[in-house]
Amino acid sequence: MSQSSGGQIDTVMQEDRIFSPSEKFVSQAQIASLEASQQMWDDAHRDPIAFWDQFAKEELHWFEPYRQVLEWQEPFAKWFLGGKTNVAYNCIDAHLGTEREDKTAILWEGEPGDQRTLTYRELHEEVCRFANVLKHLGIVPGDVVSIYMPMVPELAIAMLACARVGAVHSVIFAGFSSEAIADRNQDAGAKLQLTADGGWRRGKNLPLKDTVDAALEKSSTVEKCVVLRRTGIQVSMQEGRDFWWHELMENASPDCPAEPMDSEAPLFILYTSGSTGKPKGIKHTTAGYNLYVKKTFEWVFDHRDDDVFWCTADCGWITGHSYIVYGPFSAGATCVMYEGAPNHPHEDRFWEIVEKHRVTIFYTAPTAIRAFIKWGDHHVEKHDLTSLRLLGTVGEGINPEAWIWYHKMIGAERCPIVDTWWQTETGGIMMSPLPGAISTKPGSCTKPLPGVMPVIVDEQGDLVASNNGGMLCIDHPWPGMLRGIWGDDERYREQYWSKVPGKYLTGDNARCDNDGYYWIMGRIDDVINVSGHRLSTIEVESALVSHPHVAEAAAIGRPDEIKGQAIAVFVTIKDVEASDELRGELKQHVRKEIGALAQPDDIRFTNALPKTRSGKIMRRLLRDIAEGKEKVGDTTTLEDYSVLANLREDEE
Ligand code: WTA
Repeated sequence: MSQSSGGQIDTVMQEDRIFSPSEKFVSQAQIASLEASQQMWDDAHRDPIAFWDQFAKEELHWFEPYRQVLEWQEPFAKWFLGGKTNVAYNCIDAHLGTEREDKTAILWEGEPGDQRTLTYRELHEEVCRFANVLKHLGIVPGDVVSIYMPMVPELAIAMLACARVGAVHSVIFAGFSSEAIADRNQDAGAKLQLTADGGWRRGKNLPLKDTVDAALEKSSTVEKCVVLRRTGIQVSMQEGRDFWWHELMENASPDCPAEPMDSEAPLFILYTSGSTGKPKGIKHTTAGYNLYVKKTFEWVFDHRDDDVFWCTADCGWITGHSYIVYGPFSAGATCVMYEGAPNHPHEDRFWEIVEKHRVTIFYTAPTAIRAFIKWGDHHVEKHDLTSLRLLGTVGEGINPEAWIWYHKMIGAERCPIVDTWWQTETGGIMMSPLPGAISTKPGSCTKPLPGVMPVIVDEQGDLVASNNGGMLCIDHPWPGMLRGIWGDDERYREQYWSKVPGKYLTGDNARCDNDGYYWIMGRIDDVINVSGHRLSTIEVESALVSHPHVAEAAAIGRPDEIKGQAIAVFVTIKDVEASDELRGELKQHVRKEIGALAQPDDIRFTNALPKTRSGKIMRRLLRDIAEGKEKVGDTTTLEDYSVLANLREDEE
């Protein structure tokens, strides 16, 4: 291990395993060799403008051609200036009159087991009719529509209908509270609310309309509300404000030409948690985003026309926007969409869906994979998963042992794994293996995609040497990048462009190894500083997860008089009871795996870790608890409040 200097981060992780795609996979892959991927990367690096220009001309429909590929006035990028296109057109109309017209676009399954399929032609009709509903309700290009709906086809239809008429959608995950909805509606100036009576989650009926009713009392700009009937629970409808979706659709014409939209017209706002309580609306626009998600979908998932693609995210997150709706539909893919929980009615629900729909590409989050491991292999073994040919992960770093389990149990050692690193802000995947071209190392998101130029710098903004951890930045604008924070240019500048001049600051730490592979080390704020050595959370956590009795772990630094910080870890275990003996064993295990320096000082056993609603471990809250703070910080994004109470009780 190297001595820290200049704010670099030490790596203690030793991961030498390397996996190459099978000959069979390679023989059918679109990008089928390292040389081919290197060629694309070199082309993009040499002339990013020409690289994207060529794709934009070929891959999007232009009502009016653009005059200029990129205008870059740091930190504001404009792509494909002067052009007019429409994202809904590119996602649907582009497939009509081709052999994809009658192909299944959405293969939907509700939590209670109901199913629906929509072909591209049927999707087109639904989207056109709902677009006419939006117009009928007075929505014009540029208006903001707030969407708070369960994972039903109408959620995708609503997003696409907004895009069709030029409205800007703000999808709010259907687990957020009425306060969270109201804050977001106010910040966005939303004019219309879309919701449903309820939605199914783990067998329970979530009263979405009731939550929206409370939110609308504090959403002064929202004039009307459209309600989809999903669960049939009783709701109150306010005369003049609330309308039933099915009633409005009855009279809506299926004829609605797509509105030619400026390349830089806002497509959506998506709120992400910021460090302050004020919601942070990430803004994405039309043409650049559309092109970026289409190409990254095709490259990373090696998409073929006979694939059945399943991204298990919710449309309320960026992953759902980019890889359930806009990327796959632009590419003409068949997408599985599932409404409910992975463990309802049983822990094998996902595998049942994979088997039933013959899913070929499966894309999920590490938090889900760790849950599957904890639930036990027998749930997986019950099902025929031989249709799968490619697996993916997103949202957090994946611990190498969880990666190996995924590779063996789900992929039967046959399917490459694409560990995709990206952010709400980046619009689409930035670093990932190209599965037919790049060998994988468990825990590494491998290499940047063509046109993505990552750099790793220290506190002074200087490049760090290979294998040293530092702050991950991106060096050149890319078409999918955020165009700002809604209504707050200053915050955008401050947060992403002030610390390292001239580069986009991702907020993550990373290192690049001698083979040019990237390893994400966690959020910058989460680094643990032990006696001047700066350690990354994921490395300590991965060492713990490699122990057979550890299901999940979160590592944080707590103040220590001598070392500066001591390492405290919160651990959920499987198959055994918590004991002091196990505690000692885990300390020894980490010591053996990565060295004495990283040996945890405190180990706390817990039933569950606090997570955000999208499944990320909230280390900030754990830090507050480890420091014994009476009141922990902002908890609005916390998924399950009871976890905090339990953690408190577990305190020694
Ligand atoms: C983390 C999700 C390691 C990272 C698309 C990033 C990851 C944040 C990975 C963005 C990965 C996402 N490996 N870390 N493959 N993917 N992250 O905005 O910290 O919900 O900055 O976007 O998740 O989360 P967001």
